[in-house]
Amino acid sequence: MTPPDESLSSLRKEYARAFLDVRDVDPDPFVQFRRWFTDAQNAGLPEPNAMTLATATKEGRPSARAVLLKSIDETGFTFFTNFKSRKAREIAENPAAALLFFWAELERQVRIEGNIECVSDAESDQYFRSRPRESQIGAWASKQSETLPDRSTLEHAVARLTQQYAGRDIPRPPHWGGYRLLPSRFEFWQGRPSRLHDRIQYLQHSSSWHINRLSP
Ligand SMILES: Cc1cc2nc3c(=O)[nH]c(=O)nc-3n(C[C@H](O)[C@H](O)[C@H](O)COP(=O)(O)O)c2cc1C
Repeated sequence: MTPPDESLSSLRKEYARAFLDVRDVDPDPFVQFRRWFTDAQNAGLPEPNAMTLATATKEGRPSARAVLLKSIDETGFTFFTNFKSRKAREIAENPAAALLFFWAELERQVRIEGNIECVSDAESDQYFRSRPRESQIGAWASKQSETLPDRSTLEHAVARLTQQYAGRDIPRPPHWGGYRLLPSRFEFWQGRPSRLHDRIQYLQHSSSWHINRLSP
């Protein structure tokens, strides 16, 4: 077996910016998330709403990728994508999924788990209308997650669609729209010195949230 790369194995960082206790967090995990999300925005992070989305096949084979959080309401976390993509195929056969935010500069991680459902057509339409025209064309042009022979095939599709829709509104493609993850578990992680991190977990029990501390 190859020995671990010296430069990698010696990479480590001490976390000492802040702490987190059961007494400090809001009883409502959505309120707690908004508080931390506001901190991430105020810290000037380049894409605080970038999150890792993990899905799995019905056999439990996982896959993960980044997507952008586009809204939060009292029920869940919404993102938009292609309904024929790999993630969408996995969500169709297994709605259980997880989200991960890692805000390195704040030494914070948030994990969110639950089931995913589609948002309404009206909600997808509303968000699609707000996107830049080039992104709207892109949603029509991309057969997300399918193999593409070369980049020019995509660029030709974009040119053709740009011409087709010249001077008129671009409708939302039927294969594009939103999903919402409805959380049943949250975990707020604050890095602490010597790997003795703070982890506060929220578990949903019927309509209330049970809060406890997890060992690092
Ligand atoms: C920061 C970042 C944000 C992204 N946001 C989205 C998004 O909101 N929706 C999306 O479909 N893909 C987004 N992507 C691309 C996905 O990571 C991924 O390549 C794509 O959705 C195909 O994934 P799949 O084949 O697993 O379905 C983003 C990538 C990055 C790096």
